[in-house]
Formats: sequence, structure tokens, C-alpha cells
Amino acid sequence: MTDILDDAVRLANAWPLHESIESFEANLARHVPEGLSGNSLNRIYRKMIPRWHFAMLNDVARNQAFSSALQALTRSGDLVLDVGAGSGLLAMMAVRAGARAVVSCEVVEPVTHIARRIIEANGLADRISIVPKRSSLLTLGQDLPARADLLVTETVDCGLVGEGLLPIIRHARAELLKEDARIIPARAKVFFSLLESSVIHRINFAKEAAGFDVSLFNRFSTQEYFPVRISTWDHALLSPPVEALSFDFRHDALEPQTVRVSVTPSRSGVVHGVLFWFELDLGGGILLSNAPENLSSHWMQAVQGFEMPLRVEAGRPLCAEINQGLTSIHFALTP
Ligand SMILES: C[S@@+](CC[C@H](N)C(=O)[O-])C[C@H]1O[C@@H](n2cnc3c(N)ncnc32)[C@H](O)[C@@H]1O
Repeated sequence: MTDILDDAVRLANAWPLHESIESFEANLARHVPEGLSGNSLNRIYRKMIPRWHFAMLNDVARNQAFSSALQALTRSGDLVLDVGAGSGLLAMMAVRAGARAVVSCEVVEPVTHIARRIIEANGLADRISIVPKRSSLLTLGQDLPARADLLVTETVDCGLVGEGLLPIIRHARAELLKEDARIIPARAKVFFSLLESSVIHRINFAKEAAGFDVSLFNRFSTQEYFPVRISTWDHALLSPPVEALSFDFRHDALEPQTVRVSVTPSRSGVVHGVLFWFELDLGGGILLSNAPENLSSHWMQAVQGFEMPLRVEAGRPLCAEINQGLTSIHFALTP
């Protein structure tokens, strides 16, 4: 059954667009042999639409921050581009802040149908158009009537760049925005600390099991960062936070880069990885962060583990080399 549902998701992602959520679901039903029971439809939706949407929609601080930034930066008469509509929330906030019109694109088709319904239910259908496309495929003059005055996008994951924020903004700046367009978020920084946590290490690496050496299995360990709610794991931070990366989304090239910074352990111990997080400056002085002390953010922190833990001494500096790709951040430590 799972294979059939996976096939249905693959098909659905490649289908031409449907008129409504009902015709999308009817088409799905034709591709699940015994018809779509409520349960199998829900399983398909679970594969297409991550559950974090709900935690995100209920993150009051996040919502308030985006709403305040839009109030501060939207000028009446603006044409706003919203990349990644989701429920349509930021598009509706932009209208409330005075935008003349909002074009909001979204890559997951069923999400676009529901966003339209939400916008209609909130009486804003005449000001917001939902375009069912990836932002890189938007056509100026068709999907977007003219270059936009303001871009808003919340395509941000726990490590800032994994959902495509950098290529999304870079492409929008080149193809979809006026030269002096405002961008929300305006800037971001990434901070990291050295992380000691054998329990977190054990969720991604193995060495010995029941007396057998199983370390070759680490070939399959996750090498990129992954989300952890750090407050829920036994751990120690062996260094104060260090700034790893800094972005100005309006002016920087937003290309891959390698940065080297010094990090001095404040405690001796064993480094199992790095813990990192972002600080977003949405503009107008409005900050949003998933720093470890922010327990209510729906964003967890990012961890990148090292297969070979590294013993460090308090006061003896290390070099951290940070390789930032378009959608990745990778740390390496050398004495
Ligand atoms: C983190 S959610 C934010 C949703 C909404 N803007 C909000 O803040 O509540 C990001 C949404 O962007 C969509 N998305 C990601 N990259 C996209 C792209 N390049 N073009 C269009 N949609 C994208 C995802 O499918 C997801 O629905």
C-alpha cells in the first residue's frame, strides 16, 4: 500500500494542474486501486505537505514578526511578491499592511487550492493571486504583471538555507524585483557553538553493538545538518556562540563561500558536532531567531555531527572552516 501511495504522490507532483482541490482528489482516487479511503488520502497529504506547517502557523512570535515587518516596510500601492504561499498568511498580512496587490507562488499544488480558499474566506481574493509554480518558473508579464516593489519569503529552515532561501532571493532579485525593491527578510546571521552530546552523536553514528564493530554503517550517517530541539537532549555547549556567516539579502551575491573563523572552547570536553542557529533581521529592526534559549520557536536548532569526536581544551583555539553552498552549510574543525 505504501508503494502505491508513493507512486500516487510522484504522479500528483507531475500532473497538469487541476481546477480545484476536489478535482485533484478525484484524480488521486483514480490512481489508488481500491479508491481513496479517508485514510489513504490523508497519508498522501502527509507525504506532500509536512506537518511543520501547523507548528509554524501557531508560532505567534514568528507571525507577529512578519506582520510587523510588513507593516513597517510595505508602502501603499506596492506590488508584493510572496514566495512560498503556504496558507496565504504572509500575502494576507501584506494586504493588511497596504499592498495594492500580492502575487504569491507555491510549488505544492493542493496547498495552492487551499490558500485560495483561505484568501477568499478572508475577503481578499481581489488583491491576492496564488500562482501554482516554483518561484524560479514565474514569468514576468504573465504571472507577475511587473517587477515587484517588495519581496517577502519565509522559506527558512532550522539552518537558514536548506529550504532554498538564497537561490530564491537571488533569482527574484535578478528576474522579478525592481532594482530598489525591499526584501523581507533583509539580513541574516548564522551562529554556532561547539557541541558535546554523546546522546545526539548516537542518533547519527554507531560504533559497537552487542560486541560487534558496526562502524562501517556510518557510511549512511547524515552528513548535512538536521534539526534537534537542543533543550530536550543532554548536552553541553563547549564554546560561546561564534558568528559563522552573515548575509545582506539586498546587496550580497548570495553565492557559495568558504569562511574560516577561530573558536575558543570555554570548557574542556569532547566535541561531537556543532550546534547552529540563525538570527533573521526582517527589516525595520525586527529580529527572529531559533537560538537555543528560544524555547517557543517552532524552528528547532541545527546540528551537524562529526563521526570522529574531537577532544578540546579550554582556552586553546580551533579553526572552524564553514563551507556554505546554495542550500547547505558544512563545518569542519582543525586544531
Ligand atoms: C515555510 S513555508 C511558509 C508558508 C507561508 N509563507 C507562511 O509564512 O506561513 C514555505 C512554503 O514555501 C513553499 N516553497 C518553497 N520553495 C518554494 C519556491 N521556490 N517557490 C514556490 N514555493 C516554494 C513550500 O512548499 C511551503 O509551502
